[in-house]
Amino acid sequence: MRSEHPATLAAAPEQGATEEATAVAHPNIALIKYWGKRDEDLVLPRVDSLSMTLDVFPTTTRVRLRADAAHDQVTLNGAPARGEALRRVVAFLDLVRERAGRAHRAVVDSENTVPTGAGLASSASGFAALAVAAAAAYGLDLDATALSRLARRGSGSASRSVFGGFAVWHAGPARGTAQEADLASHAEPVPTGDLDPALVVAVLDAGPKEVSSRTAMRRTVDTSPLYESWAASSGADLAEMRAALLAGDIETVGEVAERNALGMHATMLAARPAVRYMTPATLAVLDRVLRIRRDGVPAYATMDAGPNVKVLCRRADAGQVAAALWEAAADGTVLVAGPGPGARLLGGDGR
Ligand code: DP6
Repeated sequence: MRSEHPATLAAAPEQGATEEATAVAHPNIALIKYWGKRDEDLVLPRVDSLSMTLDVFPTTTRVRLRADAAHDQVTLNGAPARGEALRRVVAFLDLVRERAGRAHRAVVDSENTVPTGAGLASSASGFAALAVAAAAAYGLDLDATALSRLARRGSGSASRSVFGGFAVWHAGPARGTAQEADLASHAEPVPTGDLDPALVVAVLDAGPKEVSSRTAMRRTVDTSPLYESWAASSGADLAEMRAALLAGDIETVGEVAERNALGMHATMLAARPAVRYMTPATLAVLDRVLRIRRDGVPAYATMDAGPNVKVLCRRADAGQVAAALWEAAADGTVLVAGPGPGARLLGGDGR
C-alpha cells in the first residue's frame, strides 16, 4: 500500500518524536513453534521458536499522535477496532507511552492483507508493524533487537516478524529477574546455507477461529498432560533445525518442522477441554503432502492455530506442490510464499 502520509511530519524538538509514522511488516510461519507462556504479562515463552518471515500478506500501520484526543482511535481494515483487539492495541500503546514519557493518545490505522484470526499469523505482522510505527511516532530510538522485544509484548510471534528470512526467538533464561528475562527474550536472524525454500499456503478456511491462540496455549499449558514432554523435546528440535538450515538440508528442516507442529497439535488435543484446529480439510491436505513425498518431492506440512496448512518445499518444486494442494484443498485457495523482509518504516512517498 502506498501511504499518502509522510513518515515524518513536524518534529517535536523537546521530545524528539516524529508524531506520525507508517510501517510495514510481514507475517511469519514458525517451523519450531511458540506454544505456551511462562509469563503472560511480559509475554515470555516457555520454549525458543524459529520461523520464516513471508513475502506475502503485509500489514501496513500508521500511527499519528493526537494532543487533543482523550482516547486512542484504532481502525483495522477501515473498521473501528473493538473488544479484545482494541484492548490489546491500547495496552501496547500504553507501554510505548510509558517508555517514551509521553501521554498523547494516537490514531492507528492498520491495513492487513492476511485474513485476520485464521491462524495465518495476522497478530505477528500486526504487532511488528505497530511496534515499528509507534516507536517512531513516539520518538523511541530502538534498534531491531529492542523493537523485537517491544513487538513481543503485543504478540509473542510478532517478535520474529521484526526480522526477515529465518529468525529464532529466544525464550530467555528461565531463572533470574523479570527484567533479565525481558531483556533476553527477543528474536534474531538465523544463518542458513544454500536453501531456496518456499512455503505453499493452503487457505482452507479464512474465517476467524473459535478459540484464540492465546486462550488455547494457556489451556494447553494448564491442563494438557502432553505439554511438558513436547516442550522438552522442542529444544532438541531447534538444535537439529538450526544445523539443517545451515547445511541447506531441506529434508531435515521439513521433517523436524512437521513433527514439531504435529506434536504441538497433540498437546492441544490432550488439553481439557480439547482444542482442535484441524478439520477434515486439513487432514485431506496432510494426506496429500504424504503422497507428494512418496512421489519423491520433499514437502513437509506445518499448521498453526487454525485449519490452514503451510507446506515447506524447495522453490523449484513449489509449482508442482501448489498444483497438488489445489486438488486436495477443495474449496480453498493456494498461494506460494518465499522468505520476506523484516519490518520497516515507510518513507514519505509510501515506499
Ligand atoms: C501457533 O503469537 O498469536 O502461531 O503471544 O498470545 O499473541 P500471543 O500468541 P501468538 O501465538 C502464535 C502461536 C503459533 C505458533 C508460532 O507462531 O510460533
